[in-house]
Amino acid sequence: MDKYQADKVVVLDALTYAGNIANLDNVKNNENFIFVHGDICDQPLIEELLVEHGIDTLVHFAAESHVDRSITGPDAFIETNIIGTYTLLKAAKKVWLDGDNVIDGHRFHHVSTDEVYGTLSATDPAFTEDTAYAPNSPYSASKAASDHLVRAYHHTFGLNVTTSNCSNNYGPFHFPEKLIPLVITNILHDKELPIYGDGQQIRDWLYVEDHAYGIDLVLQSGRIGENYNIGGNNEWANIDIVTTISKLVEREFETNSDLVIRFPNAKAAIAQNTESLITYVKDRPGHDRRYAIDATKTNDELGYQPRESFESGIAKTVQWYLNNESWWQSVMDGSYQSWIAEQYT
Ligand code: DAU
Repeated sequence: MDKYQADKVVVLDALTYAGNIANLDNVKNNENFIFVHGDICDQPLIEELLVEHGIDTLVHFAAESHVDRSITGPDAFIETNIIGTYTLLKAAKKVWLDGDNVIDGHRFHHVSTDEVYGTLSATDPAFTEDTAYAPNSPYSASKAASDHLVRAYHHTFGLNVTTSNCSNNYGPFHFPEKLIPLVITNILHDKELPIYGDGQQIRDWLYVEDHAYGIDLVLQSGRIGENYNIGGNNEWANIDIVTTISKLVEREFETNSDLVIRFPNAKAAIAQNTESLITYVKDRPGHDRRYAIDATKTNDELGYQPRESFESGIAKTVQWYLNNESWWQSVMDGSYQSWIAEQYT
């Protein structure tokens, strides 16, 4: 909304467990912003929104995204990621291709993941857009299925689609079930830092605004029917991420005495070694060993380069969590969900 100030933006969100309307506080008073509480599986609602607001561009971010949850409860992943995507596609086809509101320059952009490509060994080349799909978890299988449906709606019906496959994001507003925010908030609460298996699994981390920037480039200049990999060229073993964050938080405590008052239970508050919280736990079933994105196509065709270095991005992220305790406390104790329930039921 900062960049395209004349554009109207309609956000549709079901506000399930990780959805949080407080994340939209900075745009809620903008006259071009509209929030709709609803479900992507509700086809009449999607059609109505597309027509009512004259929407010509649909960016599909909505997903169940946490791999651990897909292992204990895959149903929600099938419903949201597969049926939800299918429903959006059906609605878009009906309104943009078949109805009275045909929009030639429409775009359906699908936000996907590098996990659809499966896992790499330490020496395998990084995933390109031509790497065969080989999803290993119910989560990645559901995302792969949705990618295929998007592709099919382009090839069969002529819907103008693009898909981006991105590596692990991190940054502000990251729900504290994911590794990076979990580690930051657990350090502040003096809780164990759970490392799955041997902690040598590798992820390719990208600052969230660099992901948004990549999606913007695909929307502006991506070729219809194409997939674009978005990544940071920034591979880290999980254990190294955790020790890096521990050191960053310790350094903050050394220079900011206010933190010692706010988080008296943190080891860093009493100058103890935070890394002692690291606890090796049972591995995630089917845990992918390594992800790495080769973003050459996106770099060459669209001029994409991440703007944030990992050093600056992770330091900003740690700062954000230190400065936004009320956000993550309400997320972790669930009080934001009761507030949502009061407002939206
Ligand atoms: O690669 C992109 C994907 O990144 C996205 O498609 C997913 O939606 C997103 O959740 C993320 O998946 P990961 O499974 O890689 O992210 P997560 O933060 O859950 O875990 C990162 C790594 O850290 C992974 O190897 C598992 C490990 N881990 C995670 C948690 C939560 C731990 O060792 N301990 C933990 O407590």
